[in-house]
Amino acid sequence: MANLQCNIAGIPSINPFWLASAPPTDKYINVVRAFEAGWGGVVWKTLGEDPAVVNVSSRYGVHKDFNESIVGINNIELISDRPLQINLDEIRRVRKEWPDRVIIGSMMAVIEERAWKDLAITIAATGVQGLELNLGCPHGMCERGMGSAIGQVPEMVEKVTRWVKEVVDIPVFTKLTPNITNILWSAEAALKGGADAVSLINTLNSIVSVDLDKMAPTPTVDGKGSHGGYCGTAVKPIALNMVAEIARNQDTKDLQMSAIGGIETWRDAAEFIALGANGLQVCTAAMLYGFRIVDDMIAGLSNWMDEKGYSSIDEFRGKAVENTIDWNALNMNFDTKAFIDQDSCIECGRCHIACEDAAHQAIIYELSEDGNRTFTVADEECVGCNLCAIICPVPECIEMREVDNQLPYVTWPEHPANLLS
Ligand SMILES: Cc1cc2nc3c(=O)[nH]c(=O)nc-3n(C[C@H](O)[C@H](O)[C@H](O)COP(=O)(O)O)c2cc1C
Repeated sequence: MANLQCNIAGIPSINPFWLASAPPTDKYINVVRAFEAGWGGVVWKTLGEDPAVVNVSSRYGVHKDFNESIVGINNIELISDRPLQINLDEIRRVRKEWPDRVIIGSMMAVIEERAWKDLAITIAATGVQGLELNLGCPHGMCERGMGSAIGQVPEMVEKVTRWVKEVVDIPVFTKLTPNITNILWSAEAALKGGADAVSLINTLNSIVSVDLDKMAPTPTVDGKGSHGGYCGTAVKPIALNMVAEIARNQDTKDLQMSAIGGIETWRDAAEFIALGANGLQVCTAAMLYGFRIVDDMIAGLSNWMDEKGYSSIDEFRGKAVENTIDWNALNMNFDTKAFIDQDSCIECGRCHIACEDAAHQAIIYELSEDGNRTFTVADEECVGCNLCAIICPVPECIEMREVDNQLPYVTWPEHPANLLS
């Protein structure tokens, strides 16, 4: 059976699945329930200095697809609204009761050296195995000069990380905001400041919907709304790319990463690890489906690792990084064509319409005398875009087949069309 133990920033964990800093980790009872369910660690809900913040009602908005499945949620909550001392006492208690699990203390303060240092020392004294610097909240706290207001300025990311590193001897995770132009600027700043790891991503700035009766964004607070932090499965592609960017950049490739963003299944987890993540954090999926989802994540990941012959996380960690390249370096001569399996085709015609209206008119529709509809691919028109295979409702009915054209691997810089220009 595959071994799911992992190590991030020198902290061993029984498995790579941690709960991210958020409501599922904001008090003793939740964290104990999480550990009972099998989570390897938690990042405690972000702590700030007293007086504790005041939260509003309501707090969450949702973005659903046509089938009413939740694609993402956004929130306008702030950091922990419970007194600091209560949180600290509870952290101490859980640390004693669950010595084999990880607790990372998440923290946030105003941009003052003493404030960061004092809070870091106070939280570290509870026995947490590490600290996470919340430089990401894109709502509420940033209006007070905290959260993403700090995370969006690389110099401040570096400075805050350094302040905290100077006063604690436990690993420091700098949590990055995705609300920036280039994640490498913040990752490099965290590295310069001495971060032992980066956690990414925090939530994306968003308005998920407008209530057309109240004429206000949701969630609505007394007739008004505000932008909030978007997360859940919808943000996974953004998080994957940012993790990959850090993993394949020369200056940051050795930076340890706690990957966050839309992780719902073991497959999501495996993908982040394949792109270089050392550990994982989950928030929305636990909020939507409960702590027991970790069972499926653990079972799914170990089964897949067994099937592939990986006995440890490290054996496949980062394996997809070398295949993640710049567009220019792709093979211009590689060619695929769609192939429609006539036996499994249900004749719905979606591939034909998509190809006619939005692609290359490569799917030919014929109606026979006995009323049968057939859809076939005209290879000479098909550019291998995948659209038909993506929208086909029947699994594996449309296959993209590689063309054996015997042509060499030619990158864009080497391509005749580029050389002519
Ligand atoms: C309701 C809510 C509250 C959150 N509070 C915090 C917080 O206090 N500190 C923090 O660093 N991140 C906070 N987050 C962000 C999550 O830790 C995480 O980075 C983000 O939700 C992306 O992960 P996910 O797609 O698995 O939800 C919060 C997220 C949600 C939904």
